[in-house]
Amino acid sequence: MSRRALLTAGPTLEAIDPVRFISNRSSGRQGYALARALAKRGFEVTLVSGPTALAAPEGVRTVQVESALDMMAAVESHLPADVFIAVAAVADWRPAQTHARKLKVDKAGFSQLQLIENPDILKTVAAMGARRPELVIGFAAETHDVQAHAEAKRARKGCDWIIANDVSGDVMGGLQNEALILTGAEAERLARASKDEIADAIAGRIAAFFQRVQAV
Ligand code: C5P
Repeated sequence: MSRRALLTAGPTLEAIDPVRFISNRSSGRQGYALARALAKRGFEVTLVSGPTALAAPEGVRTVQVESALDMMAAVESHLPADVFIAVAAVADWRPAQTHARKLKVDKAGFSQLQLIENPDILKTVAAMGARRPELVIGFAAETHDVQAHAEAKRARKGCDWIIANDVSGDVMGGLQNEALILTGAEAERLARASKDEIADAIAGRIAAFFQRVQAV
């Protein structure tokens, strides 16, 4: 029986009014590449994606969402899974109120836009108890002291592995990446390569984890 992988990817889009939103520059490329790489290795893959310019990967069930709240709900409704991988660049904040009509620039409310915190999807899934996937993986985009910050993030989020990127260069939105896989016991460096190659290496690591689990 094939293992089930659930991933998030892309940015989230947080509506201010019908025409304006808060978002970020995530392209979704690393998450989509990882979804494809896992499907190639025989995982049954569900990809919950924020808005991107990418085509839905073949052989992957892709669920399109906009906001962090939608992404959280879609993740919950597509559990259980054996592995959950949070690749999405979830907007940390959303407008406290989404206006049904386009805001006028001279309106006082516009200059006093109130923001509230979005749910942390990774942290929520990592704390799910009986419904928690066996392997929960987060990503960390860091600009300095990458390993130390990523280790701290692994503990804070309650996930099993963290994949750390050094985003001081052009990784965000770019075609290449370099990464550090922190599993608690080990740290493995993946040299600068295309996002497809990085995805393949990560998928290989995940497949090996489940082969070991099966063997015991
Ligand atoms: O705290 P930070 O945003 O740097 O953590 C990054 C990791 O947490 C990524 O795996 C990202 O997908 C996940 N995350 C999440 N929900 C949030 C914020 C981050 O799943 N609201």
